[in-house]
Amino acid sequence: MADYVKVAQASEIEPNHGKLVEVQGKKIALFNVDGKFHAIDNTCTHRGGPLSEGELDGDEVTCPWHGAKFKVTSGEVLRPPAPQGVKSFPVRVTGNDVEIEI
Ligand code: FES
Repeated sequence: MADYVKVAQASEIEPNHGKLVEVQGKKIALFNVDGKFHAIDNTCTHRGGPLSEGELDGDEVTCPWHGAKFKVTSGEVLRPPAPQGVKSFPVRVTGNDVEIEI
């Protein structure tokens, strides 16, 4: 069974911003979209750009390296050059703790 692991405090991540978190050796981009948290793989499927540093527009993040776009709610790719989407992870908030299911 997968477990939920605490990765951040909800108050650490401003609305409409992202943050890099590391869980069990995986780099995950955590985003706050209007108070709701979403987690996807941090590594762009094009050349490995850090999606947590990308610009967030609604629920879409743009890779800072070459501009591929991903949906942060599902990991789906919306714009090339990334050839495929990234994995997304279930997130829950317990009190002020943001937890990701790994
Ligand atoms: S590494 Fe993300 S678009 Fe190239």
